[in-house]
Amino acid sequence: MTSSTTRLRPRDRDAIISALRTGVVPRGGFQHIQVGRAAEIAAMTADVARVADGGAAVRFVIGEYGAGKTFFLNLVRSIAAEHKLVTAAADLTPDRRLHAGGGQARSLYAELMRNLATRSSPDGNALASVVERFVTSAVKDATAEGVAPRVVIARRLDTLSEGVGGYDFAQVIGAYWRAHDTGDETLKHAAIRWLRGEYTTKSDARAALGVRTIVDDASVYDQLKLMARFVRLAGYGGLLLCLDEMVNLYKLAHTGARKSNYEQVLRIVNDCLQGNVEGLGVCFGGTPEMLMDTRRGLYSYEALRSRLAENTFAVGGLVDHSGPVLRLANLTAEDMYVLLERLRTVFASGDPAAHLVPDEALSEFMQHCSQRIGDAYFRTPRNTIKEFVNLLAILEQNPGTDWRQLIGAVRVETETNTDLEPLPNDDTAVGQPHATDDGDELAAFRL
Ligand SMILES: Nc1ncnc2c1ncn2[C@@H]1O[C@H](COP(=O)(O)OP(=O)(O)OP(=O)(O)O)[C@@H](O)[C@H]1O
Ligand SMILES: [Mg+2]
Repeated sequence: MTSSTTRLRPRDRDAIISALRTGVVPRGGFQHIQVGRAAEIAAMTADVARVADGGAAVRFVIGEYGAGKTFFLNLVRSIAAEHKLVTAAADLTPDRRLHAGGGQARSLYAELMRNLATRSSPDGNALASVVERFVTSAVKDATAEGVAPRVVIARRLDTLSEGVGGYDFAQVIGAYWRAHDTGDETLKHAAIRWLRGEYTTKSDARAALGVRTIVDDASVYDQLKLMARFVRLAGYGGLLLCLDEMVNLYKLAHTGARKSNYEQVLRIVNDCLQGNVEGLGVCFGGTPEMLMDTRRGLYSYEALRSRLAENTFAVGGLVDHSGPVLRLANLTAEDMYVLLERLRTVFASGDPAAHLVPDEALSEFMQHCSQRIGDAYFRTPRNTIKEFVNLLAILEQNPGTDWRQLIGAVRVETETNTDLEPLPNDDTAVGQPHATDDGDELAAFRL
């Protein structure tokens, strides 16, 4: 990419720097710091193109702790946005999962909708503008055809009604259109609220919109499929979902709850691989344990294991990116060098004359980190990046400081993966109470 030649806007520069300093992945500007992983990016770009063409794709982005999964997923989102997809991302957490009985699946849906993004609204909250676009494009087409807008809208919504739950979805969009037509802001707001999965009782939704259902735990995936169709009707290529931190399903203590969640994953995998869905891509992010642990991981669910089994020939440096599992190769020491160069460029806002340190400092910094923590400095780069950015910040604010002295004092640490601390016992262990899926948290408490 062209980071060395691109000038950076101060706002983007500061956003990148402050994210990296706190150890989180920046929200944008990936082209300025991205290194390595060309083959993986090519594989994902092909997926994105397929989705934009009305197809489907599913990927499990698998990497060690701290290897760059979240960074990669965000990068994929920005590629998707360039291809006119709508994207949505959420981390799974104990309170946000694919299947639940206590509102946790609806919470996941609501989080995805809050984060809904398009190229023109990359930071999320794009749902209202997507719906607005549906309406305005229908009005435009109606004018061209010389018919009333409601005719075009009804025709388009017809195709939505075919999907499970599609009738009410279409009703809500219809309500939005009426509100648009009459300038009824309250009704507009209610429609968006419904689509965002923010109604928690059916009676409220019925009073506001005249529909009988709401987005609830049981309808989350069907609703997402409808949303994928809808964004296509609004003129986008499709919907890309990124579900990160899959380890939280692995960590569910209750076997039944885990299994129900894996069943949803299986539904998604089946639909995407068999082409039963249109314009939908789903990327999951997780660690190798989450995938391969045969006791708790995705592999503990036989149907998933057989679908996600990797090509047995893809070993010893050979890769096969045609299956749903995409392993992120570790960054290399060379990648890290390039990354440090890019960070230096970001600091200098793209101006080589403003570099804060010479090339020599980059190698010395790497050597210092290598001595302290070995290969971890490029394999799990978060801390290395953090320290390097801190170093540049000091040099920037204290002109005349000697970088050599500073490097000697850098205390980069290896990261520890708290995700894999001992898990509570399975409820399948002898003598432990069995609980229903819906009461799994309670069951865990009672132990
Ligand atoms: N390809 C890359 N190019 C440049 N920087 C990267 C790349 N991949 C990761 N990084 C940086 O490395 C750090 C760790 O990446 P990230 O947070 O994505 O890892 P992760 O695998 O999601 O970690 P965790 O297991 O904790 O969720 C971040 O600072 C990120 O910006
Ligand atoms: Mg992550």
